[in-house]
Amino acid sequence: MRETRPIRLLFVCLGNICRSPMAECVFEYLVKGRNDLFHSYEVDSAGIAGYHIGDLPDVRMREAAWQRGYKMTSRARQVGFEDFETFDLIIGMDDANIDALKEMAPNVEALGKIVKMTDYCIHMEADHVPDPYYGGTAGFYYVIDLLEDACQGLLDSLEKRD
Ligand code: 4NP
Repeated sequence: MRETRPIRLLFVCLGNICRSPMAECVFEYLVKGRNDLFHSYEVDSAGIAGYHIGDLPDVRMREAAWQRGYKMTSRARQVGFEDFETFDLIIGMDDANIDALKEMAPNVEALGKIVKMTDYCIHMEADHVPDPYYGGTAGFYYVIDLLEDACQGLLDSLEKRD
């Protein structure tokens, strides 16, 4: 018997203004673009750090997203302990995110919810989604490329699961 409640996904990066809001947006667009999904999904994103709480995504990320057909509207927030209760899967963008999440996890069940985004890549070879914040424009487009591939892989893996 398949579960009928939505699957809740939380994407996490350091600042919650580049990678994780982009992942949230890409995953949402994937789900909205299909009407054959059995599960519904609730997606959100958050940052390990609280530097940018309340901010829109970085303007460079929003511009790259817009060029690729995405409108980003989320506001940054920080990961909290309650997120380990609320969400079914907590998806970090790099090993530093994963380590910080593991430090925060209140119990073994919470630890088991932590996964890495690039582990779901289908076509691209990468072991993390690199932080584009201090780099040039190309880094933002590379983030979108990686996230489109990995979000498709994540959706496929969740839809295969009974
Ligand atoms: P993100 O990128 O983790 O992909 O949102 C960053 C955004 C801001 C900072 C670092 C990374 N910062 O140091 O302010």
